[in-house]
Amino acid sequence: MVPAMIDAEDWPGMATLLAWWREMGVDGALDESGTDWLAREGAVPGQAFALQKVEPQKAEPPAASPRPAPAVQRSAPAPGRFDASPAGDAAPRRFPTAPPDAAALSARQAARGAATLDALRAVLERFDGCALKATAKSLCFYRGRPDARLMIVGEAPGREEDLAGKPFVGRAGQLLDKMLAAIGLGEDDVHITNVVYWRPPGNRTPTPQEVQVCRPFLERQIELVAPDVIMTLGGPAATALLGIEGGIMRARGRWRELEVAGRKVPAMPTLHPAYLLRTPIGKRLAWRDLLAIQERLLGSRGK
Ligand code: URA
Repeated sequence: MVPAMIDAEDWPGMATLLAWWREMGVDGALDESGTDWLAREGAVPGQAFALQKVEPQKAEPPAASPRPAPAVQRSAPAPGRFDASPAGDAAPRRFPTAPPDAAALSARQAARGAATLDALRAVLERFDGCALKATAKSLCFYRGRPDARLMIVGEAPGREEDLAGKPFVGRAGQLLDKMLAAIGLGEDDVHITNVVYWRPPGNRTPTPQEVQVCRPFLERQIELVAPDVIMTLGGPAATALLGIEGGIMRARGRWRELEVAGRKVPAMPTLHPAYLLRTPIGKRLAWRDLLAIQERLLGSRGK
């Protein structure tokens, strides 16, 4: 039971409260003062789904590809949905009022309008259709080269990434950098991102709905980077991006093909560096996968 008010002198009460927070997945303080959710426009994610009716939207025909992207839309968004206006920082932060399908549709329309990675970042900064954004401190878009030949897709930002606003900068990221260095690649040779752009609370695996809402942005990102090869890290990323079921141990090391905007990209699922930190024996398998990727990069035409 959590006491409603705790006296600063009430150490057992404090300990109970901290233990409860920890249980709920709180593992760090991000700001000096807390967030007053009730003062925000719209409602707390989750509640909002139940509170607001979403008008059905007409689906757009699939985009022909490749084609130049239209300018970012300027029309007024539905309440609580993506706001493409350049109002920027002054606009209050709003949270999902649409179910995942509608949010994904809104994401698709927004993502299509981004002609460059910078524009896509700006679109993501303003997009409030993913509930993860409500609890994360930063957007973690990508690190590395905008037009890299190798694109690496992980699961979700963790605590370090959320603080830094970049994917794979914690311990797993450091191991990833070492793995890449072993095949002669540095940060300037790769484009590193995740299947969701905000940290899930308590580092839980992102839900299929969260993945679904972020997917249009990821697809647009892949289209803009136009990599020769994609490497996914860990089971959740392999499932989310490549539709792989049945476990990463069985799936890893075998080439797949991902079609994005009419372009087919070879994709290799491999083990997640966080798993390799816990299970170093798996590095042998990851090494094989890296060599296969290196061979593919050497064999394919450069940009
Ligand atoms: N693990 C991931 O999957 N992504 C990150 O960015 C960091 C750790």
